[in-house]
Amino acid sequence: MSEKTLASAVDKRRTFAIISHPDAGKTTITEQLLLFGGVVREAGTVKARKSGNFAKSDWMEIEQTRGISVTSSVMQFDYQGKRINILDTPGHEDFSEDTYRTLMAVDSAVMVIDSAKGIEPQTKKLFQICKMRGIPIFTFMNKLDRDGREPMDLIAELEDVLGIEGYPMNWPIGMGKELKGLYDRYHQRVALYRPSGDTQYLPLHEDGELADGNDLEDDGLYQEARDNMLLIEEAGNQFDAAKIASGDQTPVFFGSALANFGVKTFLETYLEYAPKPASHHTQEDKDIAPTDSEFSGFVFKIQANMNPKHRDRIAFVRVCSGEFDRGMDVIQERTGKKLRLSNVTEFMADTRENVEKAVAGDIIGLYDTGNFQIGDSIYTGKQTVKFEKLPQFTPELFVRVAAKNVMKQKSFHKGINQLVQEGAVQLYTSYSTGDYILGAVGQLQFEVFQFRMQNEYNSEVIMEPMGKKTARWINPDQLDERMSSSRNLLVKDSQGAPLFLFENRFAERWFKDKYPDVELTSKL
Ligand code: G4P
Repeated sequence: MSEKTLASAVDKRRTFAIISHPDAGKTTITEQLLLFGGVVREAGTVKARKSGNFAKSDWMEIEQTRGISVTSSVMQFDYQGKRINILDTPGHEDFSEDTYRTLMAVDSAVMVIDSAKGIEPQTKKLFQICKMRGIPIFTFMNKLDRDGREPMDLIAELEDVLGIEGYPMNWPIGMGKELKGLYDRYHQRVALYRPSGDTQYLPLHEDGELADGNDLEDDGLYQEARDNMLLIEEAGNQFDAAKIASGDQTPVFFGSALANFGVKTFLETYLEYAPKPASHHTQEDKDIAPTDSEFSGFVFKIQANMNPKHRDRIAFVRVCSGEFDRGMDVIQERTGKKLRLSNVTEFMADTRENVEKAVAGDIIGLYDTGNFQIGDSIYTGKQTVKFEKLPQFTPELFVRVAAKNVMKQKSFHKGINQLVQEGAVQLYTSYSTGDYILGAVGQLQFEVFQFRMQNEYNSEVIMEPMGKKTARWINPDQLDERMSSSRNLLVKDSQGAPLFLFENRFAERWFKDKYPDVELTSKL
């Protein structure tokens, strides 16, 4: 690929994640977007997958019984000359670590809010991560076909609760049963809502008024929307592309994902402003430009057994620069090993198709036989590339784990190792007894672990809860095994680094008083 072709291919990429609180409508809107992209022929495919009918693996039964989305997946489609990659994220907060890592692999985020509920806790948390990364955020106020909160309140809440300026791109004309349409100031038109689905557009005059002779003019709801828009134009935030790019202002679109109203406008406008792939920072303090001719990328997720028929394991790589070619050799930074990338898959909504070429912004799935770890950088060329570390959560909940059947140690170890490499849970080993201890951020992670061990590795496990602990790493040079007690258990992490699991803050304080010179850190 010539320099120019690479640059134009990169220009077309738009890679984003949808963040929301469970039930706000993420699945429904994803499905609509895929429909526009011509990827799913029938609405309901993503939904069916979410509910388990489209199960990619048996452990999604957990999702089915609990009605939550546990996995992140990747969907790609083309629309109006752009190649769009949507990275799905699990909604449940116990899996937020997975979501956080996924957010490291996107260039922007779409925040879906239920207009009856406003900003909910999980939205707030995910928003903070996007904010920290300084990525642009586009907001879709969903479920306009139902009675919701006052639009003005919803906009104000963005600023009050999240500290981001909201810029309404359109304004609802009525809502719920009274929904008439959207006053779309950005496109200078009114979108008329028709339950049959085929939105009709009426152009506005330059002064913002509708052409004469339409039924809306006399409708109080239209006048109300018009007045609100005027008010906002005078007293509200000014549209500011620079602020949008830095994540300080969010364009807000109203609509209904279920009724497919306002979604197309949202997608098209989003594509105008969403950023193309950005540079990625390395630990050597360099920026790797997406158009750099050498290939580079990083693994942000590993998932085993996505397809129970194949028992495969896939490392998800965000391409950061250059061009991926099937069969190319890359260097894995962590080990210095040369690896050939021949068995690769790209992700679509309902199939995984083999990928031949990919550029910055794309996500490729590498069939992995145990070579990769989350956070691995891969690259070509003479210069070493080591991308910035991915966020890691310090686990707060712990359980002791063992195989129920001592004769089945082999499958137990295989399962544990693979699931730990996936980042599903953290594994620790007790210094004194060699016991296995698992750490997680949320209880559900243990449940998924137990379920998957049984279903994918045929290993029944016993888990003995240890409750909440505070994990603190200790400088190995300062370690004396006699420092360990029942209130501060000494363990090794999967890298062999020593740490204490403190029973509570008091135990930690007591330890610090006793060993004032010992350095303790909350993260490695
Ligand atoms: P999630 O992925 O964010 O968890 O949400 P999802 O899309 O599954 O939507 C959650 C519920 O909200 C679903 O209803 C869905 O149909 C509904 N919903 C999504 N968008 C809209 C909208 O624009 N208007 C209205 N009125 N409802 C919407 P459910 O009852 O949980 O599922 P189902 O019985 O419809 O399948």
